[in-house]
Amino acid sequence: MTELAISGTGVFTPAQTITNDELVASFNEYVRRFNDAHAKAIAAGSMTPLLESSSDFIVKASGIKRRYVLDRQGILDPDIMCPRIPERPDDQISVMAEIAVAAARGALRDADRKPADIGGVIVSCANLQRAYPAVAIEVQDALGIEGFGFDMNVGCSSATYALQVACGMIERNHLSSILICNPEILTAHVNFRDRDSHFIFGDAASAFIVERASTVRSRNCWEVVSTSLKSKFSNNIRNNFGFLNRTAPEGIGNRDKLFVQQGRKVFREVVPLVSDFIHEHLEGNGLTPQSLKRMWLHQANLSMNQLIAHRVLGRDATATEAPITLDEYANTSSAGAMIAFNRHSADLNPGDYGLLCTFGAGYSAGSVILRKMAS
Ligand code: COA
Repeated sequence: MTELAISGTGVFTPAQTITNDELVASFNEYVRRFNDAHAKAIAAGSMTPLLESSSDFIVKASGIKRRYVLDRQGILDPDIMCPRIPERPDDQISVMAEIAVAAARGALRDADRKPADIGGVIVSCANLQRAYPAVAIEVQDALGIEGFGFDMNVGCSSATYALQVACGMIERNHLSSILICNPEILTAHVNFRDRDSHFIFGDAASAFIVERASTVRSRNCWEVVSTSLKSKFSNNIRNNFGFLNRTAPEGIGNRDKLFVQQGRKVFREVVPLVSDFIHEHLEGNGLTPQSLKRMWLHQANLSMNQLIAHRVLGRDATATEAPITLDEYANTSSAGAMIAFNRHSADLNPGDYGLLCTFGAGYSAGSVILRKMAS
């Protein structure tokens, strides 16, 4: 088998942020206005008043303290509660391709590669801006990459699934390298009027380069020792938005056309699924959890990551063993684990093992065992 490596990563972080307090103030103003407008029905008992949100709850339940966003004004305006991202003419780069390209440029720099060195582009993320043309082909064009591009979507696990696809393509199609981008504009799929989920997501993009281990030339390269994928159908995280919506106009605008989840059930079911999956993957490769120096886990919920890490290691993980970026970025879906990897992998030593693990809607999970290469 050809040895393959992640040879560079990049992250695009939007310039604007929203703290929990800002988000909660906007949500609570919406609640106040709603309850005032329906005061009579609420007093008559024919309508239930909306409940306020709280920053303390958000930090305690999720670990999220703030998030980066493309447009804070629209989100925080109680009359809008949605980012405003103007449509662009077709002869301008689309916003999703633009943030993917920004992350990709970072990954190319990190890998010491030029677009001419790249054999193809995969854009893999939870929410694609349009049906076609593929965003990946637009990214390919913007960067001047020959070869091919295509999009894929496996919810929050999109990055590791794309990595597995890229590894197979490099091996079998004799490609030099593949650029994978994970652009996520998740604030556009959040129902900011929903108390249970208005705080969960942020916007960001990650990108990384997969190439033959024999050709890498940057300092922070990681051999892909093994990849493993697992999925199990669940409706507990779902979004019914899609091109068929217009064929059933009665459903347009309903809650299910944005992100909906049964958070508690997801927590209960995904923690054992992922920790068992990681155990099996390590065992299958003759490794013990103790051989891992670091786990870059999907960044959705702090307690969830702590519990998964505990179940894998048989003890609490330290902050360096399972680094957290969700406090700053919130859940950025497919970009989350790669942001953690980008921020927290350069300090490890050649020969050290790390594990990248994504999980989310589907359910889907992807595990990648990595070993740091000598620079
Ligand atoms: N502010 C204040 N209170 C809130 C609130 C808010 N924004 N949202 C919910 N609450 C209340 C609920 O009404 C409930 O009150 P009750 O006990 O009086 O009924 C209480 O807080 C607990 O609600 P619950 O929804 O059970 O919270 P939780 O502890 O499960 O945390 C999540 C919610 C979403 C943070 C958590 O379940 C989670 O992150 N799960 C994993 C989800 C995940 O990883 N998804 C992957 C997405 S890709």
